Amino acid sequence: MIAVLDLGSQYSQSIARRVRECGVYSRLLPYDISLEELRRLKPCGLILSGGPASVYEPGAPRLRPEVLEAGWPVLGICYGMQLMAQHLGGEVGAAAEGEYGAARLVIDAPEEPLLAGLGGELDVWMSHGDRIVALPPGFRPLAHTANTPIAAMGDAARRLYGLQFHPEVAHTPQGQAVLERFCRICGCAQSWTPASFIEEATQRMRAEIGEGQVICALSGGVDSAVTATLLQQAVGDQLTAVFVNNGLLREGEVEEVLELFRDHGLRLRYVDASAAFLAALAGVSDPEEKRKRIGATFVDVFEQEARSLGQVDFLAQGTLYPDVIESATPGKSAVRIKSHHNVGGLPERLRFRLVEPLRYLFKDEVRRVGLALGLPESMVWRQPFPGPGLAVRVIGEVTAERLAVLRRADAIVRAEIAAAGLAREVWQYFAVLTPLRSVGVMGDRRTYAQVVAVRAVAAEDAMTADWARLPHDVLARIGSRIVNEVPAVNRVVYDITSKPPATIEWE
Ligand code: XMP
Repeated sequence: MIAVLDLGSQYSQSIARRVRECGVYSRLLPYDISLEELRRLKPCGLILSGGPASVYEPGAPRLRPEVLEAGWPVLGICYGMQLMAQHLGGEVGAAAEGEYGAARLVIDAPEEPLLAGLGGELDVWMSHGDRIVALPPGFRPLAHTANTPIAAMGDAARRLYGLQFHPEVAHTPQGQAVLERFCRICGCAQSWTPASFIEEATQRMRAEIGEGQVICALSGGVDSAVTATLLQQAVGDQLTAVFVNNGLLREGEVEEVLELFRDHGLRLRYVDASAAFLAALAGVSDPEEKRKRIGATFVDVFEQEARSLGQVDFLAQGTLYPDVIESATPGKSAVRIKSHHNVGGLPERLRFRLVEPLRYLFKDEVRRVGLALGLPESMVWRQPFPGPGLAVRVIGEVTAERLAVLRRADAIVRAEIAAAGLAREVWQYFAVLTPLRSVGVMGDRRTYAQVVAVRAVAAEDAMTADWARLPHDVLARIGSRIVNEVPAVNRVVYDITSKPPATIEWE
């Protein structure tokens, strides 16, 4: 394991992801973690992330010096490098000019294992105001750029390294190779694979759950599907999965989920609660109010099912690592659990203990684990779908009729994207039913019908997104099929805003 000490950079998560892509498990930890706690986690090396502060600012995050001196190999990135230099007797100063964006790195020590075999020059991404003015004793310069005389430094004897550039971002194409070299310097085994995760998680859950009974909510999404499959593998019939049809699912979704898990031999309870959800949504247009009512109805329905099962000890949830990181209190070593927004409130009301087998995985890792567990590609590569379902995509009041219109239009969007072979490439693609009506003409007759918006975005994660440049012929087919096949609709528009400033969903 490589511990990434998070000094506040917006890229800290990416460091952990990239290290894992090297086949080495990595976790983000608070920068002020104690030596004792860190030792318990048995890392084979440390990475100090970047951060927005300047080492001379009062209140800037500092490491505990004993952590740096404990003998682990350390790689400091940007602010992490500067902090390391400062701790070890070097000097950091404000650069006359900051360096932000692409730069050309010239490698001055190509024999050094951190940068060996990468050629003489690299394209790198820089983002710093301060820089190293004097190296700490024992270090030598490894690389420079036009603006930064010491863009990489190292002390091979103590296995301490610093990079002024960011190897973890896509704009540093060889960054992954640099991190891989650091993993090798640390002597890490490249054993972080879906199979090793499944093996370890299964054993851990067996120990944790013992003879207890576990309940799990299936949503039709990847995370809950992988959670349920993993638990079933670990504790078999001690798991009951509950699939609540909230009436807000997409066309064909209920059947697909039931069929998939029937084949997997999961003990599954199916509850059709569409009527209860629709009743709760009657007359509600405000998106937040919709969410609240859906959440509350879900808790009611799930609670009723759980009670009917008799004694249940654990609730399994598909919480992922980004949720865990986001809800961690900065500066505190303990990670606070965020109740999953789709089943929020359940653990408190039912006094279940939580099992969260995916809480240290990123989404792409969950997908790989799903495939290794034998889940089909069609499930594993599903696009993200919000817990409150189509209710957030019917703008205005949610009624059975409006849901039916949206479902048809959405099925057409999905079918055409799939037919064009774009389903993996596009992050999300769906239809939205707007509250607008407009005049149209069909077969010489005037129409006054509804407007459907099509949303398709490209993204690496849902934090930012850009509208997808779908081929015009695909858009043309989507538009023409919707107006021809969905009688209530006479106009289709395409959303050309990015996030930010817009969001992915319309709500
Ligand atoms: P926005 O619309 O904020 O959405 O750009 C970001 C991502 O989150 C998804 N989303 C949800 N996912 N429960 C979920 O599991 C929810 O309540 C929820 N709301 C939005 C959205 O589809 C996008 O991928």
